[in-house]
Amino acid sequence: MQLTRKGLWDGVIKEFRKFLPEIDDDCIVTLREGNTPLIEAVNLKDIFGAIRVLLKYEGLNPTGSFKDRGMTLAVSKAKEEGARAVLCASTGNTSASCAAYASKAGLKAYVLVPEGSIALGKLSQAIMHGAVVLQIRGSFDEALSIVKEISKNYPVKMVNSINPYRIEGQKTAAFEVCEHLGYAPTYHFLPVGNAGNITAYWQGYREYESYGIISSLPKMMGFQAEGAAPIVLGHPVDNPQTVASAIRIGNPASWQGALKARDESGGVIETVTDEEILESYRLLASREGIFCEPASAASLAGAIRMKKEGVLSDGDTIVCTLTGHGLKDPDTAIRTSPKPLQVEPDIKKILKIMGF
Ligand code: F0G
Repeated sequence: MQLTRKGLWDGVIKEFRKFLPEIDDDCIVTLREGNTPLIEAVNLKDIFGAIRVLLKYEGLNPTGSFKDRGMTLAVSKAKEEGARAVLCASTGNTSASCAAYASKAGLKAYVLVPEGSIALGKLSQAIMHGAVVLQIRGSFDEALSIVKEISKNYPVKMVNSINPYRIEGQKTAAFEVCEHLGYAPTYHFLPVGNAGNITAYWQGYREYESYGIISSLPKMMGFQAEGAAPIVLGHPVDNPQTVASAIRIGNPASWQGALKARDESGGVIETVTDEEILESYRLLASREGIFCEPASAASLAGAIRMKKEGVLSDGDTIVCTLTGHGLKDPDTAIRTSPKPLQVEPDIKKILKIMGF
C-alpha cells in the first residue's frame, strides 16, 4: 500500500496564493483553515423539490466559524508589518478567531465584546487563547467605533473586517464553492451582520469570473434578522434584537459592500424572523445532521422564504453558507429544545420509553 495523497490541505493562504496579496512564507500564521465541505441537503426535498440545495459548512473551520479564513491573512499581515498586538470588536466569533490566531502568532490580542450577549462557547475560546477580553456595557456597534478610534491612534492592528485582508481571506470560500461544484451556483444565501462576508463572497465570485474560471455569477441573497435589519430598513438600528446573537448588529461596517453585492448580482437583502431562523436551525440539526449556530441558519431560512415566494426555480443550484458551529452556543440549543427525559436506572422503564 502507498500513501494516497502527497500533502494535505495547507490553509487558505498557500492554497489560493495566486489570488491573494503577497506574503512572506515566514510570516504565515495558519491553523489550516478552509477546505470546508459542501454538503448536499438530501432531506429537504419536501421543501425544495427539484432545486438542488448545498450547505457550505463553515462551522468546520479550526475555531468553528468562517472568520478563520480572513483571520489567517489579517494576523499574518499584522505579523509581517511588525505589529505586537491585534484588536477587534466582536459578537463572538471574530474574537475567538482573533484570539486563536494571535496566540499562534505570538501577538497580544485585545477583544471588545458586548457584555452578556455573546454565546458561551465563543467567550470561552477567547479566554482560553489568552486574549484580554473586555466586556463592554454597550452594543457591538459601540465596541466597533471604540476599536476604530484606538487603532487609528495607537500601535495595535485592527482585525475587524474593515481590515481589507479579512475580506481577501474570506473570499476564498467562494473559490471553494466553485472548485467543488465546477461552476457557480444560481443563488448564494448568507446571513448578514456586519456585512463583511457577503462582500467577500461577491469579490471572490467576481474574481473567478474575471479569470475565466467560472462563466456565470450567482445572485447574492443576504438575510438579516428582523430585529436587526439596518440594511433592509435603510438606516442604522439603535437597539438591535435577535436570538441570533452573532448578527445582532445595528450599523454594519461593510454596508456599502453588501449593497454592491446585492445590486451587481441582481440579488436581495431581506429579513427573516427569529422563528424562521430557529425553525431552520432545528431542521438542519434534525434532518441533515448539521449543528450550526442560530445566525448561520438565517441563510437556509432565507432560502425557504424565497422558495415559498416563488423566486427559485426547478433546476437551480443554491448554496447556503452555514457560518458557525452549533457548539458555539449550547445555551440556545438547550433553551429552545424540549428537556431530555429523566428516568430511573431501571431497564423496564427505559425499554418502555423506547417503545419495546
Ligand atoms: N454568522 C456568524 C456565525 C457570525 O459570527 C457572523 C458575524 C455572521 C454570520 C455575519 O457575518 O458580519 O460578515 O455579515 N460575526 C461577527 C463577529 C460580527 O464579531 O463574530 P458578517
